[in-house]
Amino acid sequence: MRTELLSVNPGDPEPEAIARAADVLRAGGLVAFPTETVYGLGANALDAAAVARIFLAKGRPANNPLIVHVAHPSAARDLVTAWPQTADELAKRFWPGPLTLVLPRSSAVPDIVTAGGPTVAVRMPAHAVARALIVAAGVPLAAPSANRSTRLSPTRAEHVMRDLDGRIQLVLDGGRTAGGLESTVLDLSTTPPRLLRPGLIVPGQIVAAIGPIMEHGEQRLLGSSPLPSPGMMGRHYAPRASLELVEDDGWQRADAHGRAHRTVAWLTFAGSLPCPQKEVKRIVMPRDPGLYASFLYEVLHACDEAGVDRIVVASPPDAEEWLAVRDRLRRAATPA
Ligand code: TXA
Ligand code: MG
Repeated sequence: MRTELLSVNPGDPEPEAIARAADVLRAGGLVAFPTETVYGLGANALDAAAVARIFLAKGRPANNPLIVHVAHPSAARDLVTAWPQTADELAKRFWPGPLTLVLPRSSAVPDIVTAGGPTVAVRMPAHAVARALIVAAGVPLAAPSANRSTRLSPTRAEHVMRDLDGRIQLVLDGGRTAGGLESTVLDLSTTPPRLLRPGLIVPGQIVAAIGPIMEHGEQRLLGSSPLPSPGMMGRHYAPRASLELVEDDGWQRADAHGRAHRTVAWLTFAGSLPCPQKEVKRIVMPRDPGLYASFLYEVLHACDEAGVDRIVVASPPDAEEWLAVRDRLRRAATPA
């Protein structure tokens, strides 16, 4: 299949482009579109055959459920059987925005979306293109990140094309996505609520809104179906080169690889240290966690493009505002 690439104004998308994409979605096709976090790969969430095409295009295991994107909180309520006070409070504070809520599913949601599980993940994105597309399609959109399974999430249309060209109908190119990391996933079907995936909305913000939540940890669940969260999947969000996460500034590791004639990308905060070897490409990362998150996948995609052998990353501080970045780095570093 030929993948069409359509440019859109990210702040004020052209109605013709949105209408074209909505037509594709209503006909059961797949459209990649920008959100405020990363690019999503959308299909009509109420059409099981369309959703099946997402799993096929991504090579995604059938036991990994999808997030359903809506343009209004009332549309989320139509997809669930319970809408607790906590959901109301969180939606009021953080929607539209990078927070996904897991709630008991209603019968309107096809099995394939939830991987057969009893809950559904819902989110109302903030990006103007995403919102216009959902409204024009007139249906909620199931949309995982628009990458092949286990690969890095895309923050540019070019990244989407590299993974999915020829596998999907259309990509709406709205430029670089601002957030750069996937949404926070919070399970409201348990008491207390449980953080399944750290993201741009940090635990402190959630706790301030609804009270105590269970912290994200290194839980592993074996042989269960569906998977409770991507956090249970080990290697994920990974670049092609092997990535090492080190506790110091990383100079010594980068230097060692350089001496062994391996090409290295060295992601560090240490802008003033001399660069060890000619094989080492130093990338000075921002000390601000939001900015770091916004550039991380872009830098890792660039490392893939350049074909480096190794990526050495200096660990960001062990602090709440770095939780999501540290989580993604840890997963990228997990051996294959
Ligand atoms: O920022 C984001 O969340 C992006 C954009 C496109 O919205 N989407 C995204 O989707 O990251 P995806 O599929 O790559 O990651 C969503 C994760 C899934 O891996 C899945 O494990 C988890 O959310 N999830 C989905 N439904 C769930 C459910 N019912 N219960 C628990 N976890 C669920
Ligand atoms: Mg993903």
